[in-house]
Parts: sequence; C-alpha cells; structure tokens
Amino acid sequence: MRGMAEDSYAAEMHEHYGLGAEADRLVAASAGQLEFERTQEIVLRRLPPPPAVIADVGGGPGRYALWLAGLGYRVVHRDVVPLHVEQLRAAAHSDPAVGAAVDSAIGDARSLDLADASVDAVLLLGPLYHLTRRADRVQALREAGRVVRPGGPVFGAAISRWAVRYDGVLRLRLYEDVPAILEAVAPLERTGVLPPFWPGAFTAYTHRPRQLRAEFTSAGLEVTDLVSVECGAFLLPDLRERMADPAARQVIMDSARAVERVPELMGLGSHLLATGLRP
Ligand SMILES: C[S@@+](CC[C@H](N)C(=O)[O-])C[C@H]1O[C@@H](n2cnc3c(N)ncnc32)[C@H](O)[C@@H]1O
Repeated sequence: MRGMAEDSYAAEMHEHYGLGAEADRLVAASAGQLEFERTQEIVLRRLPPPPAVIADVGGGPGRYALWLAGLGYRVVHRDVVPLHVEQLRAAAHSDPAVGAAVDSAIGDARSLDLADASVDAVLLLGPLYHLTRRADRVQALREAGRVVRPGGPVFGAAISRWAVRYDGVLRLRLYEDVPAILEAVAPLERTGVLPPFWPGAFTAYTHRPRQLRAEFTSAGLEVTDLVSVECGAFLLPDLRERMADPAARQVIMDSARAVERVPELMGLGSHLLATGLRP
C-alpha cells in the first residue's frame, strides 16, 4: 500500500471517519436513502448477474458490500480506514453467509493488492471525492481498470461541483454556524477543492460532469454512462418523510430517473455516477 500518511488529506480524513458516523449515512429514513437507492438501481443496470466477484474499493463500513453479498455476489472490499474494515468484518462475523462472501482488508484505491482482471466489476464510490490531485484520481481509476476483467464495468461516484452551494448553503444554511462558507463557495467552484470548515471535516474534491468523464477516459476506460444520482430531489425539505411513503418515494425515484442525463441539470444533484468499461 502506498503512503497515504504522506498525503495532506489523509490525516483529516482518518480523523473524520474515526468518529464512526459513516456507518449511519445511508440508512433508511435518512437523506442518504435517496443516494443509496438510486446508486443501487444505476449499478444494477450494468452488473453481471450473481455469482460474480465485485470489488468495492473505498467501500466504507460496507453498506454496498453487504447488499451485494445478500444478492449472491462475492465481494472484495478494500478501504484505507481501518475502522471501516473492522466494522464490515464485525458484520460479516455475525452472519456466516455474509462472512463467506466478503473479503475485507485495508487497501488504497491507487495501489490495490488484487491481480489483473481478477474481478467482474468495481465500485469506486468514495475515493474520487477524497483524492484532491487529478493524477491520484486517474491512478485510482487506472487501478480499477487493471483489476476488472476486459469488458467489465467500473462505477465511479463524485460529488458535484455545485453541491456545497445547493446543499450546504441553500438547503442546510451552514453559513449560520460557519460564516466563512459564504466566502469560500466561489473559490471552491473554481478549483473544485472543498476545504474542511469545522473540526472533524475533511478536504473533499468536487467534479464537473465533463471532468469526471475526462478522468475516466484518461484512465483508459470507455465511458458508457454518466448520470446525476439524486438530481434536484435532494433539495426537498421533506425528503425523509417522502422517502418513507411508498407512493411519494416512487414519484421521487421516477423523477430522478427521468432527468438523470439531462446535461443542463446534471450538476444540480449532489452526486454524479459514471460507468466506464475496460476495453
Ligand atoms: C463517503 S465514504 C463512502 C463509503 C461507501 N463507498 C459508500 O458509498 O457508502 C468514502 C470512503 O472512501 C474511502 N477512501 C478514501 N480515499 C481512499 C483511498 N485512497 N483508497 C481507499 N479508500 C479510500 C474512505 O475511507 C471512506 O470509507
């Protein structure tokens, strides 16, 4: 594994995830539910049927890994934060079926301990918004392209360039506690780099849609799809309640799907998801 500790972003990222809150981010009846359910449906469009081997790189505490194991996939989970590996191992330990399906270890997306063409698909749902240097992001995508079999998909998630303005400023009014955020939004929208605004936050990287596409291409992946995950629905003040109501949830999911590739709207959602194939 290469030296994450040498990277400027690594210490604050470890501090942030060391707090343990990531495990609750995508659970039902939370704002993360829309992100999780939309990501599931987008990924399922291109995943080979089970049984197949999926690498979940930057897989966090394992929400997607556990879901995939439940569908009958074998999952190779790698994450650079030891707590996340421990959390997934604990979940696997309490369910022997999951334990048999999931292999979890500490690993860096830029230098994986996996053989060439050894998996059928790769999820990269996290590292691209932590790695602030373009060369590192392209390297992570190259690694994903190396370990996936020819023709296999690589799914890469990014935070949208305008998510801080829409979510942090307009929806959450974070400037009431952190006034500096108002000054920081314009430089962030120029550079893509989101500085940590409070203790425990991390430096993040935000993408324009065309930039995410270009990074996949630079890594030798053929982009077959690029969508907005949440579209504008994440701005709804009563999103949590609507996602808990089946009829209202259906309208939200259908609407997000209907506009997911509209170029004029793509940057409006908080996450982008690109699919690229290894030629
Ligand atoms: C916001 S979490 C997302 C977790 C999970 N993929 C999900 O979507 O729920 C981002 C994850 O990326 C991991 N990560 C960041 N940089 C990484 C790197 N260079 N290699 C591997 N994992 C990394 C973090 O430790 C964290 O678990």
